[in-house]
Amino acid sequence: MSVTISPSILNCDILDLRGELQKIANADYAHVDVMDNHFVPNLTWGLPVVEQIVASKILPVDAHLMIADADRWAPAYAEVGCASVTFHVEAAAAPIRLAREIRSQGARVGMALRPATDIAPYEDILGELDMILVMTVEPGFGGQKFLSAMLPKIRRTRAAAQREGVELAIQVDGGVSRETIEQCADAGADVFVAGSAVFKAEDATAEVDALRELATG
Ligand code: DX5
Ligand code: ZN
Repeated sequence: MSVTISPSILNCDILDLRGELQKIANADYAHVDVMDNHFVPNLTWGLPVVEQIVASKILPVDAHLMIADADRWAPAYAEVGCASVTFHVEAAAAPIRLAREIRSQGARVGMALRPATDIAPYEDILGELDMILVMTVEPGFGGQKFLSAMLPKIRRTRAAAQREGVELAIQVDGGVSRETIEQCADAGADVFVAGSAVFKAEDATAEVDALRELATG
């Protein structure tokens, strides 16, 4: 399985966003966390900022939308050119319709599960998706402790994708670091988001390489 590294810019030096993105140009995506202070108790940025990150062309953008009313807002992130758009199933009234809409804009589509949300009710819609995001912290903030209780959910998601015959990427986000990335890969994850592990490291570029190597096994 190939390994995809998508560093989260949530806690990077926002005043030097271009420089920070250039530091992680050896990654596969830039993971951009959109928070609306409703779905999660934190606020980041919205469409105009994401659009400019896309336009910088430094990295393809992996948008993680932690926003209420995903049905209404998520397609616009595909429209402005995000390579991948992930909505939270808890915030979507019609996930299948939304997934189709995002795909029809030419983006990959991901569906995120909060720690308390199980994959079981969604197994038969995996074919509508390119990626499942298994949150390994409660969404909203960087720097939280990895929830190893989510490892069985990663395994069950991988098993379900195999049963359904779907080529599915499984992303993990939250507390992913040198200490936890191998367990995630062993469980079946193949897309790794790391925020503080990368941007608190002395050398972000080297950290991306180190995480990739550990995940590749
Ligand atoms: C949290 C965000 C994450 C966050 C991860 O809700 O979705 O992408 O930036 O940060 P770390 O890697 O520090 O847990
Ligand atoms: Zn995220």
